[in-house]
Amino acid sequence: MSETTEPGVPPPARAVEVLRRKALRGPAYREFVRDIVRLKHARSYLEVGVQSGSTLALIDCPSIGVDPNFIFDRNPAGKKSVLHLYQMGSDEFFRDHDPRAIFGGPVDVAFLDGLHQFEYLLRDFINTEKVCGPASVILLDDCLPINLEMTERKHRPELRKDKAIAGWWTGDVWKVVEILREYRPDLRITPVDVVPTGSIVVSNLDPGSTRLSDAYFEIIDRFAAVELDAKSFETYWKANAPVAAATLTEDFSLSLRTRA
Ligand SMILES: C[S@@+](CC[C@H](N)C(=O)[O-])C[C@H]1O[C@@H](n2cnc3c(N)ncnc32)[C@H](O)[C@@H]1O
Repeated sequence: MSETTEPGVPPPARAVEVLRRKALRGPAYREFVRDIVRLKHARSYLEVGVQSGSTLALIDCPSIGVDPNFIFDRNPAGKKSVLHLYQMGSDEFFRDHDPRAIFGGPVDVAFLDGLHQFEYLLRDFINTEKVCGPASVILLDDCLPINLEMTERKHRPELRKDKAIAGWWTGDVWKVVEILREYRPDLRITPVDVVPTGSIVVSNLDPGSTRLSDAYFEIIDRFAAVELDAKSFETYWKANAPVAAATLTEDFSLSLRTRA
């Protein structure tokens, strides 16, 4: 299939997907998460949405895992000396528990990979930033969908056209990147080319910011009905062209150390 198209003529959906797949050439997301935790010399890690523990098991520092339904198929403790598991939804977790009290300090690295609907990820981000330090990083999973159908709000693999990747579901969490760019221009937002559907590294955090929580209902009203079409999908990808994971994991000048 040719990947070139005439200017102004939208490429066929399949060609767009091929291009997007080529843009994501980095390591598997869980290796990237592990590398960031190590490079930051993180002393504390929070993962929202743990499932089988395939990422959590790779993390060596004291950790918290939150998921309403753990389905571990390996030992999630790995080499960690301390692991706290909360089998509950993230809203309930943040309502009843404070990671700073659990760790005795802020969360250094957080990986948000819970329910893939934008209002959940937005709340997870708001709640997580509050318990981070200014030099912490929050990683958002699945915000670079490679086709439109995987952005459906409810995962219905049986209705998907591309059966080969019908199991991939990003939902509409991509909206959170748009929301952060608009409402929090103070944040540093770096899309990264990890497979299968990207990682967004959010840094320059402000744990005291109330901008998102103050505007929460306005944001939900504005973004609830928004959907990507072929044109806005292209615009979103242009605005969020991913950098190679190695530019972060091999650049030690990024002062990745979290705490002295
Ligand atoms: C994509 S999986 C997580 C994969 C895992 N992070 C990994 O790297 O292997 C998403 C998980 O989010 C969990 N989840 C669903 N609703 C949630 C909620 N409200 N709070 C936290 N986790 C939730 C699901 O049970 C599921 O296990």
